[in-house]
Amino acid sequence: MSGIVAAWSPGCDVMEIEEIMTQNTHASVAPEAGARVLSGMQPSADSLHLGNYVGALLNWVSVQETYDAFFFIPDLHGITAPHDPADLRARTRNTAAQFIAGGIDVERSTLFVQSHVPEHAQLAWVLTCITGMGEASRMTQFKDKSLRQGADSASVGLLSYPMLMAADILLYRPHGVPVGEDQKQHVELARNLAQRFNQRFGGTFRVPDPFIPDVGARIYDLQDPGTKMSKSASSPNGLLNVMDTDKQIAKKIKSAVTDDGAEIRFDREAKPGVSNLLSIYSAVTGRAVADVVAQYQGKLYGHLKVDLAEVVVAALGPVRDRAQQLLADPAELDALLARGAQKAREVASPVLAEAYANVGFLPAAP
Ligand code: AMP
Ligand code: TRP
Repeated sequence: MSGIVAAWSPGCDVMEIEEIMTQNTHASVAPEAGARVLSGMQPSADSLHLGNYVGALLNWVSVQETYDAFFFIPDLHGITAPHDPADLRARTRNTAAQFIAGGIDVERSTLFVQSHVPEHAQLAWVLTCITGMGEASRMTQFKDKSLRQGADSASVGLLSYPMLMAADILLYRPHGVPVGEDQKQHVELARNLAQRFNQRFGGTFRVPDPFIPDVGARIYDLQDPGTKMSKSASSPNGLLNVMDTDKQIAKKIKSAVTDDGAEIRFDREAKPGVSNLLSIYSAVTGRAVADVVAQYQGKLYGHLKVDLAEVVVAALGPVRDRAQQLLADPAELDALLARGAQKAREVASPVLAEAYANVGFLPAAP
């Protein structure tokens, strides 16, 4: 069960990942080997950033060793906010290429694009009809995003997004859903909808558990280390991207904000900038933070930055190069995704048929 130690029990308080790492008071409910897991990441930028890479993709890569893993690119979710069609198409392919380059093994795992599996949208409608208006409008992400977009311009799609996500999950009857903490509430809704559907219409869905990764769970902005690294960053220099050149990576790390004083130690409160650099170092090398701190006793921030640039380039460079190779042959990449969608449909289609039958839809004659 590498990569996963902590799961959220329903209703548990939101804890800082750091707390989980140190306390780990929650019982691990990681399923037995061979159990199924499913996760997805939106194709919302040309490149994954280091937070996505470390906080999500690396975890997926370790998860696929032990579990029957389904990973997909939720392009249907990608139109819940205004978007450009050509960008969406390109980003869907780019994201797939980065997943494979980052280590998703398409022989072992099932990798697909959401819109290639129509069952997702079909089940989403049914789940939407058993979700309360209040329940949907209480979702934190909806409240945040609709506030940002303005209540009048926010789409109904943004409101129904969690029901689509519930459909993504429930169609595959997974045991676990590896997600970042920001998605925990949506997995919780999926659990509630599964239970509600099963109760009203008969047992159809497995009630899945969210899994929160144990390490490298949070990477902060290089220019603003109090804020999570995110594609909505105020400065592009705050983001390390998987598709960045070696030079861009080195330059961004060199200009990263550090803290007063010269001591290199891990202290999120007093030294957010240096602590973030240490977390990144630890995440890309797999070495413990304490070990990295020990190595830099008596050294300057500059030393840490030079070495950090080297280890980040060593980690991301080959992923970027491999992704570019894959993107150079889009037909082959699209063929891989088509095979993934076919494998996904073999699982999703009978589950949708069962849900349709149970909800009372008259089956079409064969
Ligand atoms: P997003 O780009 O916000 O759609 O993020 C997709 C997933 O990447 C999240 O659910 C997290 O698992 C992970 N992630 C995003 N930002 C970070 C970050 N700054 N640190 C760690 N993980 C992150
Ligand atoms: N909503 C998730 C995000 O923005 C992506 C996602 C869509 C997802 N469907 C999912 C994640 C199903 C896990 C399972 O990050």
